[in-house]
Amino acid sequence: MGDTGPSVLVRAVTVEVVRPVRHRVLREGWPEASVHTPLDDSPSTWHLAALAGERAVGVVTLFPDTYEPHPGQRSERFRWMAVLPEWQGRGVGRMLMRRAAELALDRGAELLWAHGRDSAQGFYEGLGFAVEGDGFIDPETGIGHHVVVIAARALLD
Ligand SMILES: CC(C)(COP(=O)(O)OP(=O)(O)OC[C@H]1O[C@@H](n2cnc3c(N)ncnc32)[C@H](O)[C@@H]1OP(=O)(O)O)[C@@H](O)C(=O)NCCC(=O)NCCS
Repeated sequence: MGDTGPSVLVRAVTVEVVRPVRHRVLREGWPEASVHTPLDDSPSTWHLAALAGERAVGVVTLFPDTYEPHPGQRSERFRWMAVLPEWQGRGVGRMLMRRAAELALDRGAELLWAHGRDSAQGFYEGLGFAVEGDGFIDPETGIGHHVVVIAARALLD
């Protein structure tokens, strides 16, 4: 696995910190407004950033959301998972997922899930996520996705 060195820490941050990374990595060339979502300002939404010094180099946003196939299990969903290109492959994504799992467990959730881009499927599978159901095209971006899901505890093993 890549190595971030000792200087990268994952912290909860405000939405203003995560939006520039979302924009550059996931919506380059789109209007800045494309990285704003109504859930961003919900009190139960957490924004996490991997910080190299004061610079956000990776981000993810986490919020409670039922995983429909298992409605009896408390679940957290994440969106906007993004690592700056020059920081990819150095363990930042793995760090963000571990912290997301810790937060999910702190809030009593068992499952962590997302609509994962097919281009990132190997990343999720490598962390132990299951890829569920049929693939679909996200109507906003036209990019192929699958649902990915994991027991949050498994990310901490
Ligand atoms: C996908 C992404 C979040 C992964 O973050 P990262 O910091 O590059 O990942 P890490 O360095 O923590 O990688 C962990 C492992 O996953 C592997 N991996 C990373 N990205 C991968 C990919 N796209 N496909 C397959 N494997 C991948 C790494 O090689 C590493 O494997 P190892 O443990 O065997 O060495 C990041 O590459 C990214 O932002 N990509 C572009 C945007 C994107 O697709 N976001 C996800 C939207 S759902």
